[in-house]
Amino acid sequence: MKEGRKVSESRITLSQHMGVTEANVLGNVHGGVIMKLCDEAGGTSAMKHARRPVVTVAVDSMSFHSPVHIGNLLTVQAEVTWVGRTSLETRLVVTAEDIMTGTVVHTNTAYFVYVALDDGGCAVEVPSLICETEEERILQEEGAARQALRLERRRQERPIELQNNVN
Ligand SMILES: CC(C)(COP(=O)(O)OP(=O)(O)OC[C@H]1O[C@@H](n2cnc3c(N)ncnc32)[C@H](O)[C@@H]1OP(=O)(O)O)[C@@H](O)C(=O)NCCC(=O)NCCS
Repeated sequence: MKEGRKVSESRITLSQHMGVTEANVLGNVHGGVIMKLCDEAGGTSAMKHARRPVVTVAVDSMSFHSPVHIGNLLTVQAEVTWVGRTSLETRLVVTAEDIMTGTVVHTNTAYFVYVALDDGGCAVEVPSLICETEEERILQEEGAARQALRLERRRQERPIELQNNVN
């Protein structure tokens, strides 16, 4: 494995003020907007670790604990929690701030997995992860367990046969 890189070196925070174009029919922020921001934050953190382009290969299930309102400041804190040979898991902690009152609500936490690519678009080895704190070490252990579950799920997936291929 390549020489290691610290968790703190690729930790990032992405914030966006939620406007009316982010609304769903109920007038709150659309869940897809939050997912996209998570993917952007996770991808950026993974790229900072790998110093290579990355693609998303897996997104763990996402649950939203409370709505995000139009006018809130949505913030995603992203960090790499576990690294395989070519894949990286990132943790996304999402909060929404009422800018007028300063009240901050934790809306959800999610885990997205990326694969680093070489110039030919093939999966390429990434630096190992250096954990400096007990919290980072715990997250890394949990990340390894989550990845094992993902790969087991992938193994059990039944391929879909498309009926209407024209080729
Ligand atoms: C990423 C991609 C290039 C990998 O192809 P590949 O090299 O044949 O895939 P592999 O099976 O060797 O997997 C590469 C790594 O991804 C991991 N991986 C693959 N599928 C995964 C899944 N469902 N969940 C978690 N990890 C997964 C593998 O464990 C491996 O990790 P490791 O090297 O750390 O052990 C290919 O799957 C791809 O292009 N996918 C589409 C990505 C994309 O376009 N995403 C945007 C959204 S559509």
